[in-house]
Amino acid sequence: MTVLSRLSALPTFLKAILASYPTSIQDLRNPRNLARLLLTLAFLSSLRKSLLSAARSQAVRGCSPGIISVADKDAIREILVTADYPKSEIHEGFELYDQHNVFSSRNKSFHKNRRRLVAPAFGLQYLRSLEPIMQDSVQILMNKIDEILENPKSVKKGTKVLPRGHINMHSFMNRLSFDIIGKSAFGESFDMVLNDSHPVPKQMAKALKRSMQQSFNPWIRWLIPLDRSFIAFGCERVRTRKTQGEDGRRADLLQYLIDAQARERAEGNGETGDEYEDMIAGKLTDRAVEAEAVVFLIAGSETSSTAMTNTLMYLVNNPKALKRLCDELNQATATNQKGSIPTYDQVRNLPYLTACIHESMRLRPVAATGLPREVTEDTVMGGYKIPKGTIVLAALQELHWNKKYYPQPSKYIPERWIPEESPFPDYPIQDFTFYPFSAGTRNCVGKNFAMMEMRLILATLLINYDVVNVPGQRTDYVQFITTAFATESYVIKMTKK
Ligand code: HEM
Repeated sequence: MTVLSRLSALPTFLKAILASYPTSIQDLRNPRNLARLLLTLAFLSSLRKSLLSAARSQAVRGCSPGIISVADKDAIREILVTADYPKSEIHEGFELYDQHNVFSSRNKSFHKNRRRLVAPAFGLQYLRSLEPIMQDSVQILMNKIDEILENPKSVKKGTKVLPRGHINMHSFMNRLSFDIIGKSAFGESFDMVLNDSHPVPKQMAKALKRSMQQSFNPWIRWLIPLDRSFIAFGCERVRTRKTQGEDGRRADLLQYLIDAQARERAEGNGETGDEYEDMIAGKLTDRAVEAEAVVFLIAGSETSSTAMTNTLMYLVNNPKALKRLCDELNQATATNQKGSIPTYDQVRNLPYLTACIHESMRLRPVAATGLPREVTEDTVMGGYKIPKGTIVLAALQELHWNKKYYPQPSKYIPERWIPEESPFPDYPIQDFTFYPFSAGTRNCVGKNFAMMEMRLILATLLINYDVVNVPGQRTDYVQFITTAFATESYVIKMTKK
């Protein structure tokens, strides 16, 4: 990369810094803000690699020595599917108790074994048992929204009281997805929708941000150790469930892991007692069950909530699409009682609902800046020689915004996903141009869970409330592990139907 191109990228870099810590420059006389800014600068000096590349549109781009960003569809397919390159060392930031887990692992045989064990928990059949969990949780959300609509001051003490009818959807989607994954992975809701006071979600968000910083700058580890209290919480819940035996049985993800462990042991394939050997072999030891349950919590909370808030944001800004979706939902649930929650069967095959979710995940994929992988042999990508050991970022947002595949790429046009209605008949959606859940052996194991959750929740809200845009809000993003609204707020005006 030339000096000139580095300089031209400076504004993007500075913008990224400001967006990452909106308060850090407001008053640098405050030592806390200054310290945050310095820390951020150190962190972003590495993270810029992905941010710079996302700011431009090029098939293959050098980010810094050893790291390139790739946005060409064939090259991304090669990285994720055909060559199936292993994850990069950045993922080691997700190791819990220094153990591999299905998300963090870079070791292919470990991953294959572990994935084989956990994947059936996300099979469509098993997921059906989670439907009541999702329905109960969204019912609690509706009750809470109704309470706030009735009395705007009924938000948690210390939280900003919004004008009547205004609901901070970013906050509620976040809290709801924590409650759902808490119940699904540990059998216990965090009651975030009701009380917004459980310490675990906050501890987790903080620890993940820090762990991302540590992945890029390991020296931070010595300065600020990671607060792992949320992991201890998860483990404690897993142990409690196990000690309850048959009495504690529930139909959820944790039960699936516990049963899988019991099956492995019964078949004589259980752990040998050698901790290291068992870990490498991917055995479902007690530690492994705890780690996987905690990983579901990490991978399955902010991801879904951001995707849902994004979809609502695009819908309230596109009234025609919103109206069409509401018509589809009303028709599909016409026989339901007023105020009720749809069943998954009623909403799982609705083409326009799926199109609306796809279009928002195209525009704002949760892993926007790219999925890092390590090239294991010298290769050629997009006409460039790529030496072994290079980290390649599969740049999803750039791919999703490429006008070669998506005309008018920045516009929210759900119809483009319905072939017979697409305004771009000459541009049918092509295979391998859309990767919100990644692809290949490391694709999102929770995809079906997430799609079920998003369909049920969005449908319930739109059947029961009129939703309207509140203009003038900031919608810029920060990217740590996933993309998130920089202001941690997105407000929608709601009225009960
Ligand atoms: C809209 C919601 C979601 C999106 C957009 C999403 C996206 C992704 C992406 C892009 C990856 C690949 C990451 C990488 O290669 O570095 C991934 C992996 C993963 N996701 Fe999701 N995810 C979502 C929801 C969930 C949920 C609800 C769960 C679990 C309950 C989950 C569990 C996982 C796990 C365990 C992996 C690692 C899979 C492996 O490496 O074998 N995700 N997800």
